[in-house]
Amino acid sequence: MTQTDVDDVIGAFAEAAAAAERIGFDGVELHGAHGYLIDQFLWAGTNRRTDAYGGDPVARTKFAAEIVAAVRAAVSPEFPVVFRYSQWKGDAYDARLAETPEELEAVLTPLAAAGVDVFHASTRRYWLPEFEGSDLNLAGWTKKLTGKQVITVGSVGLNGDFIKAFQGEGAALGSLDNLLDRMERDEFDLVAVGRALLQDPEWAAKVLGDRFEELRPYDAASLQTLS
Ligand SMILES: Cc1cc2nc3c(=O)[nH]c(=O)nc-3n(C[C@H](O)[C@H](O)[C@H](O)COP(=O)(O)O)c2cc1C
Repeated sequence: MTQTDVDDVIGAFAEAAAAAERIGFDGVELHGAHGYLIDQFLWAGTNRRTDAYGGDPVARTKFAAEIVAAVRAAVSPEFPVVFRYSQWKGDAYDARLAETPEELEAVLTPLAAAGVDVFHASTRRYWLPEFEGSDLNLAGWTKKLTGKQVITVGSVGLNGDFIKAFQGEGAALGSLDNLLDRMERDEFDLVAVGRALLQDPEWAAKVLGDRFEELRPYDAASLQTLS
């Protein structure tokens, strides 16, 4: 991408965020995860640039931070700006943006400074520790390093990760005890749920109402219906 391309994309994000607020949405989530465009700048495996947008973790974060700043400037101060990011990529599950908390802090600090209100740390299994020496998951580390609100995600209420859904596989029910323990320790602020809600739009109401016996395993066939 030339500098003009970069500027055009940044402008498009800002314009879209302003439109989202104008037509009544409650917030925006910028997709900086899974190997899409913003993540291609963040990850050393894809960012081979030799200009100001490539190099060390802070330089690789410049594109994302400029998008966040432009979005922040285009919407009202109270309009939530969420930034989704991940270690893994759609075609490289073992890929990592950061091998250590220090490397992660180098990426997240400029994003927080640019105006991210909430980080959405995309993991496939929320219970896995992110770095050695602590059982914090990626969302937990993000909260610890930035002080921002964080969303966790990944196999909530199920015991197999969502990649299998693309191969037509279901998943058995998983316990919520570990999630609740972590919430009580304030490891994260919000929980995102994917397949369990695709399976059952009443999932949250059932969990809130202690109706656990009514929860059902995830059946891949639920992708074929609009329930
Ligand atoms: C059918 C399906 C489509 C998905 N599409 C996207 C997508 O386009 N972009 C994205 O960031 N995540 C996508 N995801 C991942 C979800 O956002 C979520 O992170 C993932 O399903 C983990 O949550 P779960 O284990 O509760 O399902 C998709 C998941 C499923 C099951």
